[in-house]
Amino acid sequence: MKTLVVVTHPDIKSSVINKRWIEELNKYPEKYVVHQLYEAYPDEKIDVTAEQKLVELHDKIVFQFPYYWFNCPSLLKKWMDEVLTHGWAYGSKSGYKLSGKKIALAISLGVEEHELRPSEKYKYTLAELTRPFELSFEYVKADYQPLFAYYGMEYNTSEKWVEQSVPLYLDFLDSL
Ligand SMILES: Cc1cc2nc3c(=O)[nH]c(=O)nc-3n(C[C@H](O)[C@H](O)[C@H](O)COP(=O)(O)O)c2cc1C
Repeated sequence: MKTLVVVTHPDIKSSVINKRWIEELNKYPEKYVVHQLYEAYPDEKIDVTAEQKLVELHDKIVFQFPYYWFNCPSLLKKWMDEVLTHGWAYGSKSGYKLSGKKIALAISLGVEEHELRPSEKYKYTLAELTRPFELSFEYVKADYQPLFAYYGMEYNTSEKWVEQSVPLYLDFLDSL
Protein backbone atom coordinates (compact mmCIF):
# COMPACT_ATOMS: atom_id res chain seq x y z
CA MET A 1 0.00 0.00 0.00
CA LYS A 2 1.39 3.36 -1.04
CA THR A 3 1.67 6.39 1.22
CA LEU A 4 -0.44 9.35 0.14
CA VAL A 5 1.48 12.61 0.55
CA VAL A 6 -0.85 15.59 0.37
CA VAL A 7 1.29 18.67 -0.31
CA THR A 8 -0.03 22.17 0.35
CA HIS A 9 2.32 24.87 -0.90
CA PRO A 10 0.81 28.01 -2.48
CA ASP A 11 3.97 28.88 -4.42
CA ILE A 12 5.71 25.66 -5.28
CA LYS A 13 7.71 27.28 -8.10
CA SER A 14 9.56 29.44 -5.57
CA SER A 15 9.84 26.66 -3.02
CA VAL A 16 13.22 25.25 -2.12
CA ILE A 17 12.63 22.38 0.25
CA ASN A 18 9.08 21.24 -0.44
CA LYS A 19 9.88 21.20 -4.14
CA ARG A 20 12.97 19.09 -3.47
CA TRP A 21 10.96 16.67 -1.33
CA ILE A 22 8.33 16.30 -4.07
CA GLU A 23 11.04 15.68 -6.66
CA GLU A 24 12.44 12.91 -4.46
CA LEU A 25 9.08 11.28 -3.73
CA ASN A 26 8.26 11.23 -7.43
CA LYS A 27 11.28 8.96 -7.98
CA TYR A 28 9.40 6.20 -6.15
CA PRO A 29 5.91 6.04 -7.65
CA GLU A 30 5.59 2.50 -6.34
CA LYS A 31 5.82 3.86 -2.76
CA TYR A 32 4.35 7.34 -2.72
CA VAL A 33 1.40 9.14 -4.29
CA VAL A 34 2.04 12.89 -4.28
CA HIS A 35 -1.10 15.01 -4.39
CA GLN A 36 -0.56 18.77 -4.56
CA LEU A 37 -3.62 20.68 -3.46
CA TYR A 38 -2.77 24.05 -5.01
CA GLU A 39 -1.97 22.33 -8.30
CA ALA A 40 -5.18 20.28 -8.24
CA TYR A 41 -7.31 23.26 -7.20
CA PRO A 42 -5.82 26.56 -8.45
CA ASP A 43 -9.23 28.14 -7.90
CA GLU A 44 -9.31 26.58 -4.40
CA LYS A 45 -12.59 24.80 -5.17
CA ILE A 46 -11.99 21.40 -3.65
CA ASP A 47 -13.61 18.33 -5.20
CA VAL A 48 -14.72 16.78 -1.92
CA THR A 49 -15.84 13.44 -3.38
CA ALA A 50 -12.53 13.00 -5.24
CA GLU A 51 -10.56 13.83 -2.10
CA GLN A 52 -12.56 11.41 0.02
CA LYS A 53 -12.03 8.64 -2.54
CA LEU A 54 -8.29 9.30 -2.54
CA VAL A 55 -8.16 9.15 1.23
CA GLU A 56 -10.16 5.91 1.27
CA LEU A 57 -7.59 4.30 -1.04
CA HIS A 58 -4.70 4.87 1.39
CA ASP A 59 -3.88 3.71 4.91
CA LYS A 60 -0.98 6.11 5.43
CA ILE A 61 -1.49 9.79 4.76
CA VAL A 62 1.08 12.53 5.27
CA PHE A 63 0.26 16.22 5.07
CA GLN A 64 3.36 18.05 3.89
CA PHE A 65 3.51 21.84 4.02
CA PRO A 66 5.62 24.88 4.83
CA TYR A 67 4.81 26.42 8.19
CA TYR A 68 2.92 29.71 7.70
CA TRP A 69 1.98 31.97 10.59
CA PHE A 70 2.34 29.15 13.10
CA ASN A 71 -0.09 27.09 11.06
CA CYS A 72 -0.66 25.38 7.73
CA PRO A 73 -1.30 27.20 4.45
CA SER A 74 -4.97 28.06 4.21
CA LEU A 75 -5.96 25.55 1.53
CA LEU A 76 -5.15 22.68 3.88
CA LYS A 77 -7.42 24.12 6.54
CA LYS A 78 -10.12 24.45 3.86
CA TRP A 79 -9.45 20.84 2.89
CA MET A 80 -10.02 19.74 6.47
CA ASP A 81 -13.15 21.86 6.84
CA GLU A 82 -14.68 20.53 3.62
CA VAL A 83 -13.38 16.98 3.21
CA LEU A 84 -13.78 15.75 6.80
CA THR A 85 -17.55 15.72 6.58
CA HIS A 86 -20.15 14.53 9.05
CA GLY A 87 -21.24 11.04 8.05
CA TRP A 88 -17.97 10.36 6.24
CA ALA A 89 -15.23 11.32 8.68
CA TYR A 90 -17.27 11.19 11.87
CA GLY A 91 -20.72 11.18 13.35
CA SER A 92 -22.31 8.00 12.04
CA LYS A 93 -21.62 4.32 12.41
CA SER A 94 -20.79 3.91 8.73
CA GLY A 95 -18.62 7.02 8.88
CA TYR A 96 -15.18 7.28 10.46
CA LYS A 97 -13.56 6.56 7.11
CA LEU A 98 -10.17 7.61 8.49
CA SER A 99 -10.46 5.21 11.38
CA GLY A 100 -7.14 3.48 12.01
CA LYS A 101 -5.36 5.23 9.15
CA LYS A 102 -1.89 6.49 10.00
CA ILE A 103 -1.80 10.24 9.65
CA ALA A 104 1.25 12.46 10.05
CA LEU A 105 2.43 15.97 9.34
CA ALA A 106 5.68 16.84 7.56
CA ILE A 107 6.50 20.50 8.02
CA SER A 108 9.29 22.78 6.84
CA LEU A 109 9.99 25.82 9.00
CA GLY A 110 11.87 29.06 8.72
CA VAL A 111 12.89 29.18 12.37
CA GLU A 112 15.38 27.03 14.23
CA GLU A 113 14.15 24.23 16.47
CA HIS A 114 15.57 25.78 19.65
CA GLU A 115 13.40 28.88 19.13
CA LEU A 116 10.31 26.76 19.69
CA ARG A 117 10.92 26.05 23.36
CA PRO A 118 9.29 27.32 26.58
CA SER A 119 12.19 29.60 27.54
CA GLU A 120 12.73 30.95 24.03
CA LYS A 121 11.20 33.32 21.54
CA TYR A 122 8.24 31.26 20.31
CA LYS A 123 7.46 29.57 23.67
CA TYR A 124 5.83 26.39 22.37
CA THR A 125 7.13 23.27 20.70
CA LEU A 126 5.86 22.30 17.29
CA ALA A 127 4.12 19.29 18.83
CA GLU A 128 2.17 21.74 21.02
CA LEU A 129 1.49 24.16 18.18
CA THR A 130 0.07 21.39 16.02
CA ARG A 131 -2.38 20.11 18.65
CA PRO A 132 -5.42 21.14 16.51
CA PHE A 133 -4.25 18.59 13.92
CA GLU A 134 -3.66 15.98 16.60
CA LEU A 135 -7.09 16.52 18.12
CA SER A 136 -8.89 16.72 14.77
CA PHE A 137 -7.39 13.51 13.48
CA GLU A 138 -7.95 11.76 16.79
CA TYR A 139 -11.55 12.98 16.69
CA VAL A 140 -12.03 11.07 13.44
CA LYS A 141 -10.31 8.04 15.03
CA ALA A 142 -7.23 8.16 12.83
CA ASP A 143 -3.92 6.89 14.16
CA TYR A 144 -2.12 10.24 14.50
CA GLN A 145 1.67 9.89 14.43
CA PRO A 146 4.48 12.12 15.71
CA LEU A 147 5.37 14.70 13.09
CA PHE A 148 8.40 15.24 10.90
CA ALA A 149 9.87 18.73 10.96
CA TYR A 150 12.79 20.35 9.21
CA TYR A 151 13.79 23.67 10.69
CA GLY A 152 15.96 26.64 9.86
CA MET A 153 14.99 27.37 6.27
CA GLU A 154 15.15 31.09 6.98
CA TYR A 155 18.83 30.80 7.83
CA ASN A 156 20.08 27.83 5.81
CA THR A 157 19.03 27.47 2.22
CA SER A 158 22.34 25.91 1.21
CA GLU A 159 22.09 22.87 -0.99
CA LYS A 160 23.82 20.85 1.73
CA TRP A 161 21.20 21.79 4.33
CA VAL A 162 18.37 20.95 1.97
CA GLU A 163 19.95 17.67 0.83
CA GLN A 164 20.47 16.59 4.43
CA SER A 165 16.73 16.64 4.90
CA VAL A 166 15.97 14.23 2.07
CA PRO A 167 17.09 10.92 3.64
CA LEU A 168 15.62 12.03 6.98
CA TYR A 169 12.24 12.61 5.34
CA LEU A 170 12.32 9.34 3.42
CA ASP A 171 13.25 7.44 6.60
CA PHE A 172 10.37 9.12 8.39
CA LEU A 173 7.90 8.13 5.67
CA ASP A 174 9.17 4.58 5.60
CA SER A 175 8.91 4.28 9.37
CA LEU A 176 5.19 5.03 9.40
C1 LIG B 1 3.35 33.71 4.72
C2 LIG B 1 4.51 33.06 5.41
C3 LIG B 1 4.44 32.81 6.76
C4 LIG B 1 5.49 32.14 7.41
N1 LIG B 1 5.37 31.87 8.75
C5 LIG B 1 6.34 31.16 9.37
C6 LIG B 1 6.20 30.80 10.74
O1 LIG B 1 5.22 31.12 11.41
N2 LIG B 1 7.19 30.07 11.31
C7 LIG B 1 8.30 29.67 10.60
O2 LIG B 1 9.15 28.98 11.16
N3 LIG B 1 8.44 29.99 9.29
C8 LIG B 1 7.50 30.72 8.67
N4 LIG B 1 7.62 31.02 7.33
C9 LIG B 1 8.79 30.50 6.60
C10 LIG B 1 8.43 29.24 5.82
O3 LIG B 1 7.96 28.23 6.69
C11 LIG B 1 9.63 28.70 5.05
O4 LIG B 1 10.05 29.70 4.16
C12 LIG B 1 9.26 27.44 4.30
O5 LIG B 1 9.05 26.38 5.20
C13 LIG B 1 10.35 27.03 3.32
O6 LIG B 1 9.81 26.00 2.51
P1 LIG B 1 9.86 26.11 0.91
O7 LIG B 1 11.33 26.25 0.53
O8 LIG B 1 9.28 24.84 0.42
O9 LIG B 1 9.06 27.30 0.53
C14 LIG B 1 6.64 31.73 6.67
C15 LIG B 1 6.70 32.02 5.30
C16 LIG B 1 5.68 32.68 4.67
C17 LIG B 1 5.78 32.98 3.19
